[in-house]
Amino acid sequence: MNTSRRTVMAAGLAAGVAATSVGTAHAAPAHAAPGRTPTKTLFGTLADGTPVHLWAVANGGIRLEVLSYGGLVHRLDVPDRHGHRANIALGFDNLADYVAKSPYFGGLIGRFGNRIGAGKFTLDGHTYQLPLNDGVNSLHGGTKGFDKQMWHVEPFAGRSGTGLVLSRISPDGEMGYPGTLKVQVTYTLTARGEWRIDYSATTDRATVVNLTSHTYFNLAGEGSGPVYDHTLELAAARYTPVDAGLIPTGELARVSGTPLDFRRTKPIGRDIRTSHQQLLYAKGFDHNWVLDKGRTSHPEYALTLAEPRSGRVMKMYTTEPGMQFYSGNFLDGTLVGTSGHIYRQGDALCLESQHFPDSPNHPEFPSTVLRPGQTYRTSTVHAFSTR
Ligand code: GLA
Repeated sequence: MNTSRRTVMAAGLAAGVAATSVGTAHAAPAHAAPGRTPTKTLFGTLADGTPVHLWAVANGGIRLEVLSYGGLVHRLDVPDRHGHRANIALGFDNLADYVAKSPYFGGLIGRFGNRIGAGKFTLDGHTYQLPLNDGVNSLHGGTKGFDKQMWHVEPFAGRSGTGLVLSRISPDGEMGYPGTLKVQVTYTLTARGEWRIDYSATTDRATVVNLTSHTYFNLAGEGSGPVYDHTLELAAARYTPVDAGLIPTGELARVSGTPLDFRRTKPIGRDIRTSHQQLLYAKGFDHNWVLDKGRTSHPEYALTLAEPRSGRVMKMYTTEPGMQFYSGNFLDGTLVGTSGHIYRQGDALCLESQHFPDSPNHPEFPSTVLRPGQTYRTSTVHAFSTR
């Protein structure tokens, strides 16, 4: 770590001690370091007149911009080894594109990350039908998932860091899912240069929940070309193979001897053109890795993503048992991103901590069922550094 980065972190720590209360911008102590408390500006207006705000959070050298629409990550500015910050998250420069054509850029995904086969599941003897938005399957919570809903946002600045608490109440039956789901998602930037996400939810009827974040990362900077040179280490000896519709077969297969083996760090592009049936189905990587650590009560190590030119490194730690690694296979040159560049296939990758896709139809997978009286809690940490 270089000196300038250490200075930034020390400043963040000092401010963290000063600003101990959780509250709004007005509640922050007058002596808090500038930029410590999240700021709010108008980003755009939905067709029905609803204003959408952009919240900017900065700490530990990192800067995060989040929209109240979709709770989505609009920008994530992270320093390279020389201290130069770049936006490493794909997005759009306007609200209309997020609403009309976003492939879940930065989105807060719910109620259920990834696919539910035939958009159908049975719980306590009752069968629920969800909207189909991915061929014959339901993807990422349906046609109007959490990434397309408005969120209530409260800023905070305290000892744990600075950030935003996003909340919403998903009504009983929304997108076909049972139960009134009260959801709270906290984005925290810590003084150590971490972006942490804490998810929690409660329900008044038995339901299924699997929340995640769909940020498209390019550690060289959004719009700078493909991510094939990024190296990835994934602490997973197994993955969940899929059928042609990308629904898990139920098997937990070994990665050993396949292009899906990332146990030793390797460039993402090295094996991406191997004619392995799983890569043909997905047009690249779009699979759920079974993390060796399993489901844990505290975030534990899952992966290291690194980009050689900028020196940016992102490590992920999670409580979740699975990680969807998607290599941006469906980006096809039709979207113009935040800085005006066209996004093409492989221009970013997603790393979505989660329970396994289609879990409601696989009793052998870790359960995604949430019942009244229980609290759903998961956490994921993205720790940034340089090398
Ligand atoms: C997830 C899915 C992919 C794709 C992307 C969004 O990663 O697994 O198949 O739907 O989201 O395009």
